[in-house]
Amino acid sequence: MAVVTARAMTDGTSAQAPKMAVRKLDLFYGESQALYEVDLDIAEKQVTALIGPSGCGKSTFLRCLNRMNDTIDGVTIKGNVTLDDRDIYDKAIDVVQLRARIGMVFQKPNPFPKSIYDNVAYGPRIHGLVNSRDELDEVVMTSLEKAGLIKEVKDRMAEPATGLSGGQQQRLCIARAVAVSPEVILMDEPCSALDPIATAKVEELIDELRSNYTIVIVTHSMQQAARVSQRTAFFHLGKLVEVGDTDQIFTNPKDERTKGYITGRFG
Ligand SMILES: Nc1ncnc2c1ncn2[C@@H]1O[C@H](COP(=O)(O)OP(=O)(O)OP(=O)(O)O)[C@@H](O)[C@H]1O
Ligand SMILES: [Mg+2]
Repeated sequence: MAVVTARAMTDGTSAQAPKMAVRKLDLFYGESQALYEVDLDIAEKQVTALIGPSGCGKSTFLRCLNRMNDTIDGVTIKGNVTLDDRDIYDKAIDVVQLRARIGMVFQKPNPFPKSIYDNVAYGPRIHGLVNSRDELDEVVMTSLEKAGLIKEVKDRMAEPATGLSGGQQQRLCIARAVAVSPEVILMDEPCSALDPIATAKVEELIDELRSNYTIVIVTHSMQQAARVSQRTAFFHLGKLVEVGDTDQIFTNPKDERTKGYITGRFG
């Protein structure tokens, strides 16, 4: 197991040690290489946005952060990914526990075909995080509160989650992720299926969540990256081209490829 000692972020944007650190990450789908020597630090309790043209490897990279690629046949990963300085690819790591610490919200809202209550209660139940029905009720209510959904659903907890609107379903999925008290939340284009009002609600929520959680979000919208993130990483053809404070990336990018992308010359 590789142990990285506490140190500042490599790009010098923060004096704080990173929550997650990725080093020399290569990923292959069979023979085809999708990520090349990616180095990235993920700052704690900040939002890091991953941007770049379609097919550049954003989702692939995001899935490396909680080992979701383990479930895809033929994937080979080289390099190092740590959470609090521990190698998450270490054989001793329990992947189920890891995914409780690093939750994920997908592009399409994917509530379970269960009640609103049971969707949020699912994680705490399977991870044995609560000892009584009262405690479970408490976790469900506070998670819905954190996800900004409580007002809309408090009188319909027993109804099927699939009866909610798309934006409500996405916030329910965020409540479900939050219910197991993760440290990191990964979001892959969480607003792409939502209308502008629902998107604004989810963005507001992301901004609130960052006081307690480390968030990594993939987005196709540069406006969204600028609104919700403190750091932005630009990917191109499987490589991490540039990372820095979001303001700097959007106002003063150093790399020509970043400049080209944010000014709409390609992508
Ligand atoms: N399961 C898979 N099997 C084989 N190749 C894959 C698989 N998933 C992704 N790829 C390939 O890896 C590369 C990166 O894909 P990825 O989905 O990570 O891109 P992305 O940046 O998320 O794109 P988008 O913005 O369109 O979602 C692409 O060339 C894609 O075709
Ligand atoms: Mg993607």
